[in-house]
Amino acid sequence: MRIELTVNGTRREADDVWEGESLLYALRERLGLPGSKNACEQGECGSCTVYLDGVPVCSCLVAAGQAQGREVTTVEGLRDGDELGPVQRAFVEKGAVQCGFCTPGFLMSTKDLLDRNPTPSDPEIREALAGNLCRCTGYEKILDAVRAAAAERAR
Ligand code: FES
Ligand code: FES
Repeated sequence: MRIELTVNGTRREADDVWEGESLLYALRERLGLPGSKNACEQGECGSCTVYLDGVPVCSCLVAAGQAQGREVTTVEGLRDGDELGPVQRAFVEKGAVQCGFCTPGFLMSTKDLLDRNPTPSDPEIREALAGNLCRCTGYEKILDAVRAAAAERAR
C-alpha cells in the first residue's frame, strides 16, 4: 500500500508498504531517515522514539499505516537549520554521547520534556527518560546534558 504523511514538515509518500511494517522501518528504509534507531524492536529501549502528531511514540511499535495523513517528527527534525538544535548541542558539549545508538531517543524524549516542563527537577528528568535505555554512559552525562539544555533555554 501507499502511505502519505508529513515528516519533519515535508509531505512524503512511501510505496509498497506492507500491512505489518513498522513506522520505524518505513522512516529508515523507505524515506531515507536513519536517525531513529532500531535496537530492540520491542518497545523496551526508546531508541526509535519519534513524535506522532506531537506525541512521543516508539516507532517500532507503530504500524506505518497508522501514520497515514499524520505528522511525524524524527530526530532529523530537531536541527536548527544547518546547525544542531539546542538539545543536540547540549548532548555533544556534555559528552552524553558514546556509541550514540540511544542518543536519538534521548534527544526526542528530552525535547518533549523541556517543551512540557522547561525547568525540570532531577527526579522529573529521570522519570521522563525512564523509557530510554543507554548501555554506555551511566546516565550521569545525559542528566548533565538535559540540565544544560534546560539552562540554555532559560537564558
Ligand atoms: S527499537 Fe523501539 S523501543 Fe527499542
Ligand atoms: S551511548 Fe551507547 S547506548 Fe547510549
